[in-house]
Amino acid sequence: MRADAPLLIVGAGAAGLSTALAAAPRPVRLLCRAHEGTGSASALAQGGIAAAMDAADRPAAHARDTLAAGAHHNDAAAVRWLTDMAPLTVDWLAAQGVAFDRHQDGTLRLGREGGHGVPRIVHAGGDATGAALVRALRTQAQRASHIQWRGGVDVEALLWRDDRVAGLRTRDERGREETHHAAHVVLATGGIGSLFARTSNPPGADGAGLALGLAAGAAARDLEFVQFHPTALDLPQRQSLPLVTEALRGAGARLRDSHGRPLMDGVHPLGDLAPRDVVARRVWMACQEGGAWLDATAVTDWPGRFPTVLAACLEHGIDPRTAPIPVTPAVHFHMGGLATDLDGGTGVPGLHAVGEAACNGVHGANRLASNSLLEGVACGRRLGTRLATLPWARRGQGAMRWIERGPSLDANTLTALRQRMWTAAGPQRDAAALRDALRLCGLWHGWQARLAEALLLAALRRTASLGAHCRRDALAA
Ligand code: SIN
Repeated sequence: MRADAPLLIVGAGAAGLSTALAAAPRPVRLLCRAHEGTGSASALAQGGIAAAMDAADRPAAHARDTLAAGAHHNDAAAVRWLTDMAPLTVDWLAAQGVAFDRHQDGTLRLGREGGHGVPRIVHAGGDATGAALVRALRTQAQRASHIQWRGGVDVEALLWRDDRVAGLRTRDERGREETHHAAHVVLATGGIGSLFARTSNPPGADGAGLALGLAAGAAARDLEFVQFHPTALDLPQRQSLPLVTEALRGAGARLRDSHGRPLMDGVHPLGDLAPRDVVARRVWMACQEGGAWLDATAVTDWPGRFPTVLAACLEHGIDPRTAPIPVTPAVHFHMGGLATDLDGGTGVPGLHAVGEAACNGVHGANRLASNSLLEGVACGRRLGTRLATLPWARRGQGAMRWIERGPSLDANTLTALRQRMWTAAGPQRDAAALRDALRLCGLWHGWQARLAEALLLAALRRTASLGAHCRRDALAA
């Protein structure tokens, strides 16, 4: 351990890695549950990075699409900043070693996804963009002398001293505790998909960082806005489902019902490429009525462009080149989180949040496709750069107090909570189901139940539908 107070970053996805790299030369300790930073949602991301890279495209057009997808609930200044930063972010990632897909003449191959008016998505390795990005940033972080890795640990408490967050406590897989003192703590712990019965997130996306931040007194923002991806591979009895990327619809795949009829005809002018909340609700309804399928049999170059989806389907006995893929909506992204400014400040001294764990308002009520890796990297770099220049408090002398996340739910109760969250706080919600779920959560003792309560309360309070938050009782009124 270095002598000066280090920066502690919890989470080694796109946001955590970018923050750590940008904080140089400040000493950083990067803490994550998995070893070597595997297991993040970023590494699973199949969509790419949205950026106005084409000569005919403009950041302002990217901003317009971001605001439309977010139902104009977004912070417009944050959207302007992010979309302006997007081309620079792609260039920076290329300089870190991310090999973006290019045409033979060297120009970027730009794909199209839902809600985008033009093709503006860059990919690396086709639908394996997140894995390529995390691999490149991880390699840089492992080479960087200012970054120290600590994998296989769970953060279970924040340390409070001299009126600020001053460190944290971890527990490793063998149950050993360790106290880490710090001038600044960054939560880059990702989303909350693991609190629901159907998600495209990895199991570790359970909202643990969000729960810790709330326990420390940080404010929450927009907790009710949960994005449902329309097309995860529908595997019965599985919670964490492989994603079937929206880029397939950009390449011509069509959603169909159990009779083979196109699902999106007449629903939205953008058809299969309508904003994600619109498509997810349609697929959700079709699933209640016999099922939904993505017919991608007309798509070409599967190994080159969609190797991840191809492998996932083949592993489960489906050949998407010749047969439609059974799909279901699944929790994909949390627009809400710890309320922060664009610099990642939570308002709690010493505590910062970035990436999906944070809510700086950029995504509004529903995130535009391929804006999440972008946000993680751009905001991570902004936060890291700022932390590198902030004065660092000396280690305090005052009394120490632990802010605990609290005990976890047992496995059976967690399964029940996930099921209840899916039915009550899924793509369609109403007051009766939300209240019933809230009552049930009140009977359960565990931090996941407290976090679920916070989300359910936010969903109850927002009585009108907006973006991904659909109140069917409001629609019927
Ligand atoms: C996808 O590939 O469909 C997901 C992209 C994203 O989450 O933005």
